[in-house]
Amino acid sequence: NGNYTVTLIPGDGIGPEISQSIKNIYTAAKVPIQWEEVDVTPVLKGGKTVIPDAAVSSIKKNTVALKGPLATPIGKGHVSLNLTLRRTFNLFANVRPCVSIPGYKTPYDDVNTVLIRENTEGEYSGIEHEVVDGVVQSIKLITWDASERVARYAFNYAQAHGRKRVTAVHKANIMKMSDGMFLSACRQVAKEFPKIAYDEDLLDRACLRITQNPAPYSDRVMVMPNLYGDILSDMCAGLIGGLGLTPSGNIGRDASIFEAVHGSAPDIAGKGLANPTALLLSSMMMLRHMNLNEYADKIEKAALTTIAEGKHVTGDLGGKASTKEYTQAIITKLTA
Ligand code: IPM
Ligand code: MN
Repeated sequence: NGNYTVTLIPGDGIGPEISQSIKNIYTAAKVPIQWEEVDVTPVLKGGKTVIPDAAVSSIKKNTVALKGPLATPIGKGHVSLNLTLRRTFNLFANVRPCVSIPGYKTPYDDVNTVLIRENTEGEYSGIEHEVVDGVVQSIKLITWDASERVARYAFNYAQAHGRKRVTAVHKANIMKMSDGMFLSACRQVAKEFPKIAYDEDLLDRACLRITQNPAPYSDRVMVMPNLYGDILSDMCAGLIGGLGLTPSGNIGRDASIFEAVHGSAPDIAGKGLANPTALLLSSMMMLRHMNLNEYADKIEKAALTTIAEGKHVTGDLGGKASTKEYTQAIITKLTA
């Protein structure tokens, strides 16, 4: 293994604390990567809020980044920098595995599904305007190319990860044209993968079925337009113990950015209470993406056993440990 450089965006709120935890764990595990830490405090350029050039060029150069949460203003203010990053690097597929942690008891102990979310358009197009006073239009933009691209990614992912089925999640009963086209793209790609089963499920019905019994979703990958993936991934996180546990990878052709599904949690920021697991597991996806599987396996095992034992877990998992104590418990396992 050579030495790799990875861009690290610590992020806002709890971002710096959980990033520090990852850095400490990686040092202990002797992972052969170097962090290039960049600041993404938004800058104003020609009336638009953009990501600082240094951050963009670092990601361009390294092609892999680990990213903490970036605070997103609600109802006003600049475009979310989380989205700006996804768009800047054309990170078209957002992969969100949701897998129960063995030994960590929730009402559901058999969740094992993967959501693949279209990551560049849909309701996230950011195209909005006030038609007349009191009437606002937000454009949900769906293109054939982006739909086909994410569908193909989902089928390839299923094939590579031994999953037998791809389910397209949609509301084509209502959005007959946009979601209808998304489905057509999925159906066309499905023909290229005769060994992978393909079916379709309405978003609302999928929510109902997964919460009633997640087991049938264990053999599959679910692919869907942007906003559906946003909502469904938080719902699925709830099945396995919350947002402290669910990782994600934003995958593009020229770069990939790995980040937790959760936000910046300003209510607990700076208090040393945050659960770093979601970012840690995102970084495991990153290591596997870089073919550093042995390190990923080792660190993942240490983290999952620490959670299963339950003695040194953070408050969201019913424990009393601080971020540092939980991190130290993982490090102790790694270096035992
Ligand atoms: C996510 C987050 C983001 C999103 C926010 C922070 C812009 O909720 O990654 O799921 O809506 O995509
Ligand atoms: Mn979300």
